[in-house]
Amino acid sequence: MTELKNDRFLKALLREPVDRTPIWMMRQAGRYLPEYRASRATAGSFMDLCMNADFACEVTMQPLERYPLDAAILFSDILTIPDAMNLGLYFETGEGPKFKKVVRTEADVDALPIVNTASDLSYVTKAVSTIRHELNGRVPLIGFSGSPWTLATYMVEGGSSKDFRHVKAMMYNQPEVMHQMLHKLALSVIDYLNAQIKAGAQAVQIFDTWGGVLSHAAYKEFSLQYMQQIVDGLIREHEGRRVPVILFTKGAGQWLETMANTGCDALGIDWTTDIGNARSRVGDKVALQGNMDPSVLYASPERIREEVASILASYGKGAGQIFNLGHGIHQFVNPDHAKAFIEAVVELSPQYHK
Ligand code: CP3
Repeated sequence: MTELKNDRFLKALLREPVDRTPIWMMRQAGRYLPEYRASRATAGSFMDLCMNADFACEVTMQPLERYPLDAAILFSDILTIPDAMNLGLYFETGEGPKFKKVVRTEADVDALPIVNTASDLSYVTKAVSTIRHELNGRVPLIGFSGSPWTLATYMVEGGSSKDFRHVKAMMYNQPEVMHQMLHKLALSVIDYLNAQIKAGAQAVQIFDTWGGVLSHAAYKEFSLQYMQQIVDGLIREHEGRRVPVILFTKGAGQWLETMANTGCDALGIDWTTDIGNARSRVGDKVALQGNMDPSVLYASPERIREEVASILASYGKGAGQIFNLGHGIHQFVNPDHAKAFIEAVVELSPQYHK
């Protein structure tokens, strides 16, 4: 086991003291980087990058070569699970993800297998171990999955959606069918994340990108309940260290207290919540990750620095903050602006840890 040279991300997730606020960016390996676009062109497609461990490793490392980031994130996608459930994932240029088969009826749900990572998604665990080896203890590696609810939105709609027409109709008309699907997804996610942890992921994040489109009652019943099952089913210690779990529901400002009660270690928050307010509400239960509006990166480096300063001041002194964007970095961001963002956190945060 190689010693971890930079563990401030893992320490901050457990609210232990650090020398400065750690930072990484959601979607840090992606189209805003010219070297990523070059690798994708060589590999052929986005899925070719994901399915080949050497390519997945190459693009995971790209943002780390440019910036002083404190974590790496596995290069993959949340939609690998529905693909392994035989729905036939494909990407059409400029249109986002699509599925050949959609899930609309009870019979469709009955036909869904529970994912066995070892046999169905070995390309992901292979990527995890290849990346861990390449990192050689430089920074920790984050594994991830989609939440059952967020995966279900793509599986029922057949791709991205604006109104969630079919998935919400199913949820309100046939709640039992919806629950059956979410149950199969939760079991699949537990198996998938535990396999990533065994292969070398040192923290895991659950992306619930679409939990925020649910009503108050539906969020608890159809999203949070299944994330709770996942938190309960995960390996929490590996290689002699705690494996922190981060829950990120976009648009969940009003539910932070309930989310903090799941037993997770940290919450990811988007930019619509003030991080100081979030901190006072969750107390010392969980660490907080976030939460700059990704669109701030379209502004000047001076403006970006001001925004970083104000988020640091709002959180205030002490441990338990991980700097990040409130959602993934956009493809049209200038990489030099991402650099200004990360350097501002490196330069401005030590005063909050003295
Ligand atoms: O953070 C990272 O650097 C790791 C890689 C990562 C990707 N997707 C790579 C990717 C992660 C963590 C994800 C998660 C993901 N995927 C989510 C949850 C987080 C979020 O952003 O809300 C969701 C909803 C997806 C599903 C998905 N994958 C969509 C909707 C799209 C198309 C939209 C888009 O941004 O193009 C993808 C494709 C995708 N996943 C790309 C990347 C780098 C772009 C594909 C390309 O290169 O053309």
